[in-house]
Amino acid sequence: MSDQRPAISALQVEQRTFPPPAGFAEGAVAADPGVYERAAADPEAWWAEQARALEWSTPWHTVCDRSDPPFFKWFVGGALNASANCLDRHLATRGERVAYHWEGEPGERVAITYRDLHERVCRLANGLKSLGVGRGGRVAIYMGMVPELAVAMLACARIGAAHTVVFGGFSAESLRDRVNDFAATVLITQDEGWRNGRTVPLKQNADAALEGAPGVAACVVVRRTHGEVGWTPGRDHDYADLVAAQDPACPPEPMDAEDMLYVLYTSGTTGKPKGIVHTTGGYLTAVAATHRMVFDLREDDVYWCAADIGWVTGHSYIVYGPLANGCTSVMYEGAPSTPGKDRLWAIAARYGVSILYTAPTAIRMFMKWGPEHPAAHDLSRIRLLGSVGEPINPEAWMWYREHIGGGRTPVVDTWWQTETGAIMVSPLPALSTTKPGSASRAMPGVSVEIVDEAGHPVGDDQGGYLVITEPWPSMLRTLLGDDERYVATYWSRFPGRYLAGDGARRDRDGDLWLLGRIDDVMNVSGHRLSTIEIESALVDHPTVAEAAVVGRADPTTGQAIAAFVTLRAGVAGDEALIGELRDHVAKKIGPIAKPASIVLTDDLPKTRSGKIMRRLLRDISEERHLGDVTTLANAEVVAEIAEMAQAQRSAEG
Ligand code: PRX
Repeated sequence: MSDQRPAISALQVEQRTFPPPAGFAEGAVAADPGVYERAAADPEAWWAEQARALEWSTPWHTVCDRSDPPFFKWFVGGALNASANCLDRHLATRGERVAYHWEGEPGERVAITYRDLHERVCRLANGLKSLGVGRGGRVAIYMGMVPELAVAMLACARIGAAHTVVFGGFSAESLRDRVNDFAATVLITQDEGWRNGRTVPLKQNADAALEGAPGVAACVVVRRTHGEVGWTPGRDHDYADLVAAQDPACPPEPMDAEDMLYVLYTSGTTGKPKGIVHTTGGYLTAVAATHRMVFDLREDDVYWCAADIGWVTGHSYIVYGPLANGCTSVMYEGAPSTPGKDRLWAIAARYGVSILYTAPTAIRMFMKWGPEHPAAHDLSRIRLLGSVGEPINPEAWMWYREHIGGGRTPVVDTWWQTETGAIMVSPLPALSTTKPGSASRAMPGVSVEIVDEAGHPVGDDQGGYLVITEPWPSMLRTLLGDDERYVATYWSRFPGRYLAGDGARRDRDGDLWLLGRIDDVMNVSGHRLSTIEIESALVDHPTVAEAAVVGRADPTTGQAIAAFVTLRAGVAGDEALIGELRDHVAKKIGPIAKPASIVLTDDLPKTRSGKIMRRLLRDISEERHLGDVTTLANAEVVAEIAEMAQAQRSAEG
């Protein structure tokens, strides 16, 4: 029997709908509404069709091997090379096409064609071979957003070595732990990176990390800023010297579809990092197919995913997906506010960006800065906008469409994870009627369900746990060195189904609404409430740029709702506004959701990938000792928020 109480109550009601703009479907990649049914009728045939868009040196004999769940294998028996699919395959037809328009933070501009990129990758691949890396090798990469980062990943893929990219904002200790867990023998880094007009000491951090990483025999260093860095003779190699000496041709190693392509560590908002393992054939198939369909990729598009390659979004949708599709991308090195708050819009206008993909945290920051910054540039080429990384508040969605998309573009809210490798839930822009805040439905070939505590599917408009019910090609294969944790984390709660760890509800039209991480769900007077709906009600108020909500222990209601709110630029906050915000939430979604307290703050604690860290806000609200804050992007804000929360408690007596 199904639990009577909903797993998560769903309160938010959103009425606005946006059908695809007139004419959008003409020539669109996915224009046939039958695509969902066709894929659902035979998902393996669907994925095989997508895989055939790649170049295989040996065809597969089995699409999906399900003999040892949850250790699924895809395209068994097939062989291919990811770098050949991203580069060599395009040379005859589009060798002179720009793969990346790269812009450095201080202002340098470089256009790199597919032919250039191919040569750079071949040279570094040979360079890595000269350092003893070959098939089955392991290379760690710790860099900023420079073209050599993509080159390094592809060079590894070319010779059959797996890579792990460690985000350039991580500390020496984080780097050391990942390098050791991965058992890398080579580290590729750079002297320094650029961020916010300042240099980031990458090589210095790498040196500190390598002191505790005896397995690394060689360190390759890109000279980016030409700043002074330490040098360990014998171990350290100048990137330019290394590649200059190499043959510009390097035949790609044919890899088994199930050979490891890379590991990416997810730190997430809680717990010890997990090494997510992705393999070659299924991953490349799904990232290329989803990139084409979700972004409706056409020949003349200029695509910009403004994420960092250090995250999965960059792996799948800056490097492997776009290059497999032979598309032209923009890549930007630095901060969005350098030298001015219109930097991204100046870049978008300069290259005629037509598709932009970014995160809700960035969109809320643009909202906070004000619409005059995008308005100062010609963004008329933009025809499609994407969002990823967190649930997007409906007001942020509306702002994005209005001020970046000129009120004309579809917005695709894409749900997925490092673990899923590729987009799992998203509108298809020529087919879906979108709703602000909804990620629409599962991609063709992907099947999801929302279930209650007992694992039974919930009804329309009921919140529950999001599960994926069938294997998919780009799924993680395991956690590096820890099969048991892989099974326990993702496949044990509801046997046979993949537990995403997110809450969701499906509305009457079949559209999905993501409700945030299960761990963040609050319990107020026996109602299980998701944080996102209350946050979105706050962001709906014209003075609010960003909001985070957590449950804090309360003797009467179990938990009480504590809200933290950042106001838009130029708005002054006072007691009256706080009262107004509380009433606004009560009016928007009901008195049960009215925050017990609201703290106004200049910023919210975020992970380095931009996700709000609610766990810390819970600690602050419950006056607990604050544990490790080193994984935060903005650790300094925590003390400030704690002080303000304390002041508020004393004021309340
Ligand atoms: O909670 C979901 C949220 O981000 C988590 C995955 O984070 P990560 O592995 O870092 O990958 C981020 C880029 C794919 C998910 O479990 N998330 C991501 N996209 C969305 C989202 N939540 C709601 N809506 C989204 N579109």
